[in-house]
Amino acid sequence: MISEVLVRMQNLSRTYWRGKMSVQALVDATGLVRPGDRIALVGPSGSGKSTLLQLMAGLDKPTDGEITWPVLDELSGLLPRQVSVVFQMPSLLPPLSVLENVELPMLLGDASVEEARQTAREMLDIFNLHELADKLPEELSGGQAQRVAMARALACRPQLLLADEPTGQLDRHTARHMFDVLFNFLQGSGTALVVATHDPAVAERLAVNWRMQHGVLEVS
Ligand SMILES: Nc1ncnc2c1ncn2[C@@H]1O[C@H](COP(=O)(O)OP(=O)(O)OP(=O)(O)O)[C@@H](O)[C@H]1O
Ligand SMILES: [Mg+2]
Repeated sequence: MISEVLVRMQNLSRTYWRGKMSVQALVDATGLVRPGDRIALVGPSGSGKSTLLQLMAGLDKPTDGEITWPVLDELSGLLPRQVSVVFQMPSLLPPLSVLENVELPMLLGDASVEEARQTAREMLDIFNLHELADKLPEELSGGQAQRVAMARALACRPQLLLADEPTGQLDRHTARHMFDVLFNFLQGSGTALVVATHDPAVAERLAVNWRMQHGVLEVS
């Protein structure tokens, strides 16, 4: 049923232009994301994983094809309660503490200051990051910053979580633990999860693997 589809992608293509040079980063991609899906997006570097996630997040527009979010209404701007993104590049806001970073999307939504603070503290507890609450992003290791970004993305309880290499800077044990916490948190929530990853151990934990090669998406 169309009403059960979070993201519908039909023949999506994305070409980047740099002067007269073009790169076809995504070619004719078609797929569906439904509530509760656990999807790993796997493929070599440069195959188009981040490009596809940016389109699914509504942060970029396809050059061709159509993408819709039937359950989420038409996306207009960032709607943290609907779609949360963990970016591949560091994305914590430098002047804000860890706690304030986690609070921010909730404050941009409809949470009160008190609610945002309480939930942010709970999220930091869940991810075992409470000791970092008052630190600035520049004081964190890469892996700590990635875990804070994950806590921030989940704080709004989004319907769709898009995570781009969220364990890229974590050791194997910490990566496993982060996914344990993530799955535990999402259990029974209906939140769909799409994770771009190079890590076979992460891909193995997700029910479905979508493969990308030279911009071509193979949906299993
Ligand atoms: N803003 C941009 N301008 C021009 N080319 C780009 C841009 N972003 C990505 N590309 C190109 O598009 C292709 C796909 O890039 P993308 O970042 O989607 O790959 P990826 O699968 O996420 O790679 P990685 O695993 O290294 O993160 C690559 O050839 C890349 O060089
Ligand atoms: Mg990428």
